[in-house]
Amino acid sequence: MQEREQWASKLGFILSAAGSAIGLGAIWKFPYITGQNGGGAFLMLFLLFTILIGLPLLLAEFSIGRAGGGDALTSYKRLAPKTPWFGIGILGLVTCFILLSFYSVIGGWIVIYLFKAATGSLAHVQNANYDGLFASIIANPTISLSMQFIFMLITIIVVAKGVQKGIERMSKIMMPALAILFFILVVRSLTLPHAIEGVRFLLQPDFGKVSSQTILEAMGQSFFTLSLGVSVMVTYSSYLSKKESLPKSAISIVIMNIAVVLLAGLAIFPAVFSFGMKPDAGPVLLFHVLPSIFSQLPFGMFFFFLFLVVFLFAALTSGFSMLEMIVAIITKGDPNKRRKWSWIIGLGIFIVGIPSALSYGLMADFKIFGKTFFDLADYAVSNVLMPIGTLLIAIFVSWIMKKSTVYEELSEGSEMRKGIFQAWYFLLRYIIPILIIVVMVNVLRQV
Ligand code: PHE
Repeated sequence: MQEREQWASKLGFILSAAGSAIGLGAIWKFPYITGQNGGGAFLMLFLLFTILIGLPLLLAEFSIGRAGGGDALTSYKRLAPKTPWFGIGILGLVTCFILLSFYSVIGGWIVIYLFKAATGSLAHVQNANYDGLFASIIANPTISLSMQFIFMLITIIVVAKGVQKGIERMSKIMMPALAILFFILVVRSLTLPHAIEGVRFLLQPDFGKVSSQTILEAMGQSFFTLSLGVSVMVTYSSYLSKKESLPKSAISIVIMNIAVVLLAGLAIFPAVFSFGMKPDAGPVLLFHVLPSIFSQLPFGMFFFFLFLVVFLFAALTSGFSMLEMIVAIITKGDPNKRRKWSWIIGLGIFIVGIPSALSYGLMADFKIFGKTFFDLADYAVSNVLMPIGTLLIAIFVSWIMKKSTVYEELSEGSEMRKGIFQAWYFLLRYIIPILIIVVMVNVLRQV
């Protein structure tokens, strides 16, 4: 058996992990949830949760991955031999499988619009009827399935190439491109008339609008955007050399994630307000509102095309991490098996995702527990499986792993101050599990 792969550089690791984090959560989900939850106050809560809970949990996953040094299953087995804790790895595998099965559907929608924008057909829509156009495209099974297939195909090809040559190389191109393109979009959006109203909506908190539901959603959103609870970050950190500092990497990833969330808000809300549109359009916000906005700008379709490219990059780098987590477990790090299994698992995910893709057309009326297949998969992942995963990971690191092992892992590369370590440990051991349980109980009560 050949040696296990590693990231070629620390930067490659950071960009790949940031690539996993930054995705549909930050660009598609965040703007519409913020729009529905009154703007600034939601942003504040999200930032609070990301820093107080998300960052410590990210560090927890990193310490498991690097101390364990294997795929998600192997790492848990090595750190807690002869115990059932490796179940966290299996839970992550199942969650990533379901997650990618519907994530790729939205990925497919981006590909559809990308084709439309590239061929100029979006520029000639009658009366800017993008809502109708979008609904009719995604209701067409041939189109939505083939586009979902294209998204999965790219994901499979990159993951089949391996950690260094596939994921790391792509992330090193895609992440900087994303930053540059977003920057252009924000400048464009901020120079529109009345842009300031959108900025105010995003940044000025109105805590009168905060309900318990808002708090729950903000917390769920911070887990989702940082890819927490499914051992993706355990897997990625297991490819990192022992020399590098984990806390520093985690902090840079969280900063980049927050930056993109802010950029996404600053690109979208000023434009929404400038054109007198509603910020609370829901999950369709991006797909309905954006083409209307861009079509009214000089070179609008060109900018829209750029936006879609960025959006697709972001979704792909997240998709890579979900497939990689599974492939790593199945192949046990043997590079010779990677190609075959990337294809088998990737195609399996595509097949399982078919009902989700059809949920906006043929199967729109097929409901389980009152939800379409797509909504059910999304609900199960975001509100049940991911919170259980984060809860177990917090408990695993602070109650099951040896405290000295955890401390050594976090002090590798540059010594972590004892006081900071103790505070982090306390958060993981008591505060975070209690908070997650409160959140879950509240969410489940509303079912
Ligand atoms: N963080 C990704 C996003 O925001 C989603 C994701 C969750 C990716 C879990 C991997 C694992 O889109």
